Amino acid sequence: MAKGLAVVAGGGGFIGGFLAKDLLKQGYNVRVVDIKPMDDWYQVHPEAENVVADLKDLASCRRAVKGATRVYQLAADMGGMGFIENNKALCMLSVLINTHMLMAAKDEGSIERFFYSSSACVYNADKQKSEDVVPLKEEDAYPGMPEDGYGWEKLFSERMCRHFYEDFGLETRVARFHNVYGPHGTWEGGREKAPAAMCRKIIAAKLNGDTEMEIWGDGKQTRSFMYIDDCIKGINMFTEAPHGEPLNLGSDELTTILGLAEMVEGFAGIKLKKNHNLNAPKGVNGRNSDNTKIKQVHGWAPGITLKEGMKKTYDWIYEEYVAKYGAGKATAKV
Ligand code: NAD
Ligand code: GDD
Repeated sequence: MAKGLAVVAGGGGFIGGFLAKDLLKQGYNVRVVDIKPMDDWYQVHPEAENVVADLKDLASCRRAVKGATRVYQLAADMGGMGFIENNKALCMLSVLINTHMLMAAKDEGSIERFFYSSSACVYNADKQKSEDVVPLKEEDAYPGMPEDGYGWEKLFSERMCRHFYEDFGLETRVARFHNVYGPHGTWEGGREKAPAAMCRKIIAAKLNGDTEMEIWGDGKQTRSFMYIDDCIKGINMFTEAPHGEPLNLGSDELTTILGLAEMVEGFAGIKLKKNHNLNAPKGVNGRNSDNTKIKQVHGWAPGITLKEGMKKTYDWIYEEYVAKYGAGKATAKV
């Protein structure tokens, strides 16, 4: 017997595509909703009810959650640094999605869980000035000075989840994702994040016989990256657990961006000269996840190594790249 109806908002995207697949496997009836035409969805699961709708609109949100017991609110207009630094207003407009999805879920009355995907971009910029970063603890989000645009919207919306729980009893759960990567994600077009960008650039150089590549910033910036399988496991865990404060959901394996590029060069079997574009979007100098609390609360933290996850990601992007551009001269450049 099906477990009930789970709605994956933003399920035409990277994380939502995997989440919908997992929920189907768990025995849920699944409704996937996304604004993109279905041809552009990263994964389409024929067993699910697949709906194209703009969730900025309250009436669409009401239709989206009709009859559901669970809502996973992943829909957002977002991307990597190249997108969020140049599209602050668009990022902030996702507040309409979050507001209307919360209102619709509250009014529907049958929603047992409302999961919201917040971000490490909520953390105070002052705590992320050095590459030699102290991992971010949950309390470092306040006093509020998050990433401009995108981070402010996320911080506001996670706060709204808190008050819908306190004032209306809606069972909200919030995780702060730290840079998630894997196959079936964005790898070109301007919204891609560093892991996919490094793979694409190095694959393009390999296939073109180029000897150089561009890196944004000096490459000494540090980040941690979480593989998609860990992210999905974490979402399930957060959703099952009792209500609590927002927690980090991220890897604590720190790397420099240069280190990330060198790892991918190792997969490709090439070594490139690095041209540093110091005018490109850079974001914070350093960011890592402190996993003390997630280990305390859930007895678990993401653990798939960067090398293992990046190899799978590289292999998938390689296939996609060759399928789209062939193995000769490439056109995908960012
Ligand atoms: P994604 O861009 O692949 O997926 C988001 C989906 O939301 C897209 O398919 C998009 O079309 C859809 N969407 C945008 N506006 C919409 C609207 N008005 N109505 C309906 N759908 C709409 O991104 P993702 O990496 O899968 O991220 C999922 C969630 O996790 C987002 O909320 C994001 O902010 C959050 N997050 C992701 C990361 C990461 O590194 N991937 C890190 C922190 C937080
Ligand atoms: N995207 C990208 N492309 N980044 C590059 C590139 C490139 O070609 N070259 C170097 N970088 C550097 C960026 O300048 C930045 O300093 C670092 O790699 C990481 O960039 P991103 O992966 O794009 O983003 P981020 O880690 O700063 O922020 C991301 O993670 C947050 C959660 O941790 C964003 O995707 C946010 O939306 C997300 O919430």
